[in-house]
This record gives sequence, C-alpha cells and structure tokens, in this order.
Amino acid sequence: MIVYETLRMHPPVFFFLKEAGVDTPLVSSDLVVPAGATVIMSQRTLHMHPKLYPDPHVFDPERFSSANSAERHPFAYIPFSAGMRSCPGRKFAMMSLKTTISKVIWNFQILPDETYEPELLWGLSMVTANGMRIKLLKR
Ligand code: HEM
Repeated sequence: MIVYETLRMHPPVFFFLKEAGVDTPLVSSDLVVPAGATVIMSQRTLHMHPKLYPDPHVFDPERFSSANSAERHPFAYIPFSAGMRSCPGRKFAMMSLKTTISKVIWNFQILPDETYEPELLWGLSMVTANGMRIKLLKR
C-alpha cells in the first residue's frame, strides 16, 4: 500500500503521449479527438484529482486497502499506463520494489532527514535535483 501510494503521488513516468488512430469520441464530453491528433495524458494530474483521491496531497496508504481500491475505476490509477502499450516491466518493477524495501526495513529503520527538501525535476521522468536523503538506523 505504501508503494502504491508513493507511485500515486510521485509517478516516475508522469505523462505519456498517444496518437489517435481513428476519430475517438470522448466518454466525458461531446468532444471528438480527430484521427492523427496527439493526446498528452498525465497520470500525475489524474492521481491528484480530488474526486478520485480526496486530500490528494496527503500521503495515505489506506487509499489502497482492498476495500478502498475496489471502489475505484481501474483506470483511476495508472503509474504504469494502461491498455495494450502499458508497461511490460510492471510486475518486475513492483517485485523489485517490494523485495528491496522489505530487505532494507528488515535491517534498518528508515527515518526522514528533516533538513532535506526534495527539489522535483519534471523532465522525461520525475527525479530530484538534489538526490534523496534519508536516515537509516540499524535495527
Ligand atoms: C516503477 C517503475 C516503472 C514505471 C513507473 C514504468 C512506467 C511505464 C509507463 C507509464 C510506460 C508507458 C509509456 C508510454 O505509454 O509512453 C512504460 C512503458 C514501458 N516500460 Fe515501464 N515502468 C517501470 C519499470 C519498467 C521496467 C523495470 C521495465 C523493464 C524491465 C520497463 C519496460 C518498459 C517498456 C519496454 C515500455 C514500452 C512498452 C511499449 O511501448 O509497448 N518498465 N513504463
């Protein structure tokens, strides 16, 4: 749930582009995306929508409990994109994240460095300009 919430607030890939192959009517309005148009879609914007995620700037892993997740549309959470060209590395990435984090927290307590404020860099993917400082306390 912590990994999911982190990827909601800080999706490393925070936008993607798709070209409409055919005229595509939008479900949400009367607009039609014409064939050939490039659509820019931001998962970060979607993940911060207060209708989908109340108090979106609050880090709350409980959003991803089974009960709370069941109420959301599957496409309301797309850090790995969705559909035919979504990320094929999704399972590998999630497994690597979970095994690495569990190995670290087995041996260390992770504490924030109160003097550190990450400077987000919005390039092709989201990174920080000043690294990622944490404190590790040996268990
Ligand atoms: C937390 C880690 C990762 C995130 C958030 C992520 C996210 C994404 C997203 C959003 C896309 C779609 C981009 C687009 O439509 O323009 C994508 C595509 C892709 N990802 Fe990942 N990815 C991650 C890890 C990985 C890993 C570990 C691999 C390989 C082992 C991988 C391989 C790929 C490939 C090959 C594509 C292109 C798929 C295609 O165009 O058909 N990704 N990823």
